[in-house]
Amino acid sequence: MKKLFTLLIVFIVAGIQSLRADEGMWLPALISQRIGDMQAKGLKLSAEDIYSINKASLKDAVVLFGSGCTGELVSAEGLLFTNHHCGYSYIQKHSSVEHDYLKDGFWAMNREQELANPGLTVSFLQYMEDVTDKVLVGYNTSMSERQRDSIVAVNSKKLTAKAMSEGKGLRANVEGLFYGNQYFLFVFKVFRDVRLVAAPPSSIGKFGGDTDNWMWPRHTGDFSIFRIYADKDNNPAEYSKDNVPYTPRKFFKISLKGVNEGDFTFVYGCPGSTKEYVTSDEVAYTAEVSDPTKIALRTKRLDIVKKYMNQSQAVRIQYSSKAASIANAWKKWQGEAKGIAKMKTVEAKKEFEARFKEWAKGNRYNGVLENLEKLYQERNPYFFAYENYSETIRVIELLQFASNIERNFKNQKAKEAYTEAFFKDYHQPIDEEIFVAMVNGFNKNVPDEFKPEYLKEKLAEYGSAEGWRDAVFKNTIFTDKEKVLKLTQKDEDIIKNDPAYQMYEHFYRWYYDNLRPTINRLNSEIRVAYRDYMQGQMDFEKGKDFYPDANLTLRVAYGHVKGYNPADAIYYKPVSTLKGIIEKDNPDIFDYNIPQKLRDIYAKGGRENQPVCFLATNHTTGGNSGSPVLDAYGNLVGINFDRVWEGTMSDIVYDPEVCRNISLDVRYILFNIEEIGGAGYLLKEMEFVD
Ligand code: ARG
Ligand code: GLU
Repeated sequence: MKKLFTLLIVFIVAGIQSLRADEGMWLPALISQRIGDMQAKGLKLSAEDIYSINKASLKDAVVLFGSGCTGELVSAEGLLFTNHHCGYSYIQKHSSVEHDYLKDGFWAMNREQELANPGLTVSFLQYMEDVTDKVLVGYNTSMSERQRDSIVAVNSKKLTAKAMSEGKGLRANVEGLFYGNQYFLFVFKVFRDVRLVAAPPSSIGKFGGDTDNWMWPRHTGDFSIFRIYADKDNNPAEYSKDNVPYTPRKFFKISLKGVNEGDFTFVYGCPGSTKEYVTSDEVAYTAEVSDPTKIALRTKRLDIVKKYMNQSQAVRIQYSSKAASIANAWKKWQGEAKGIAKMKTVEAKKEFEARFKEWAKGNRYNGVLENLEKLYQERNPYFFAYENYSETIRVIELLQFASNIERNFKNQKAKEAYTEAFFKDYHQPIDEEIFVAMVNGFNKNVPDEFKPEYLKEKLAEYGSAEGWRDAVFKNTIFTDKEKVLKLTQKDEDIIKNDPAYQMYEHFYRWYYDNLRPTINRLNSEIRVAYRDYMQGQMDFEKGKDFYPDANLTLRVAYGHVKGYNPADAIYYKPVSTLKGIIEKDNPDIFDYNIPQKLRDIYAKGGRENQPVCFLATNHTTGGNSGSPVLDAYGNLVGINFDRVWEGTMSDIVYDPEVCRNISLDVRYILFNIEEIGGAGYLLKEMEFVD
């Protein structure tokens, strides 16, 4: 009886755990371990449908787009969807004053008009395989870490070389999972002829801009369309006009049914990086030290940039992309720090660690946490100085420019191109103000014993950051385009004695000699310690389902369409519509000024309920941009492009109450193709289901 009772408890606990929120980024090759839970939550597919090495499966329709986004195949002729912000730099490269595809959008009206993108690749996962035993052949636990590293490197090289020799256009790499407790071989087929087919105007593809970024309600039409080309045998090839559209093993059918609150969805893509298993010290450092410091520094920078952007349209154009990238992480960190505080993650981890230490007393994990504590204590002051350096001195544009010219001045052509590009988007008054704010910020944040002597000397010499700024900006040549263009190979001395270059170099030397060696040494010791602590957590919490931290390898996350309650008395519904775009529309506000065509379409009536974006509980992160969002049958219902800022701590801890991914409803893509782009012919090659 007692036994039965214990068994019952085990079942109940296991039951609760498997119904545990929609947290997790699971390896497709091991999806059979999750399939029961997925089916219980609504999935109508089998594990083999999702990932198979024997037959075409959904994985064959997903690609790593470039090196930091995801894309998906939507036709038998190589047509691919990803985000507008993933295609952005390619759209930008094709844009000029005469053809501003960023501003006006781009719609190829036939195959000839599609635009090649040298350097852009898309990678299809062929297979993934657990190679832990093979990677560790020759290793035994009496060896040093250095020996282990070199054995891992040599064995991995053999495995990847063999895998790549098996076909054309293959790339292989071995990735450590769970901090190197497990190794997987990933083999990709890499296509190099990827052409731009369509992009909406930024006023649709980036609608809401940084104001709405990381926010709900959201109405961004964040998509762009490409096509993969292959040689006549359907293999990867460099760009050639003789190439033909690639025939994928699988492409997604598009659901016209859409989603409702409660519907099952899953996301298939390449999340970049998470740290779910770190200690309370790491979390406390992130949420209580690092995030607030960086947020404050970026707030200063953004205030300065925005002040000038608001005064001049020319400056707005010069700095809009810079401001976007400053603001993106800035907003994310705010959600992260707040979410961690709200979840009491530091306290929860401390409590867990106390139990772990007790348990570890009798086993090989004894001392692992104590060691990590010691390592963090040693590393954090150095790391803090480094983070301040990289968020202050390193962001002064003049100094970056000087150092880049120093590295490139022997290559006249590179130097020239770089100089032109720099001055096209440089507004000196902004940089001067930022110089002062950043020097002061660094000086205030970094403890005296860590500061470079050079900083102390210069501040003493000029009396203030303003005085130092004047000395640098008055005497540098790097604010003068003509002078920089005239520099020749013989002018090394001029560069090396320039005050901007000197300042860059002194700080870099200080970092390189005083911080870097210690940080690198301690970080690698921390990594090694985490290998044990990770394995320890898995042994300690037998029965819990662990998923490896994200590392840009293919993953499946699943959950439900769901709204959330961001603050007292507010409930966010999970679906946004065209009506909301019209409500936000404002010709005077850059981020909300929609194309006249969209206004006209709306004015004709009947389009209020056109869905635009939706929320779900899928666990995603950066890199999941462009990922297919699929319904219970594996049909495409949306593409992922963001999370809500209140849930961005999901990189460290997932809160089912507020962690939501934001997807673009695929039907809004179709709407844009047909009605904004007038490129309805593209729909003919897609397959639709109702
Ligand atoms: N927050 C999204 C992602 O992290 C979109 C970023 C691009 N959009 C923007 N408005 N900055 O990275
Ligand atoms: N926009 C992000 C990306 O570029 C996705 C947002 C996130 O979940 O971090 O991958």
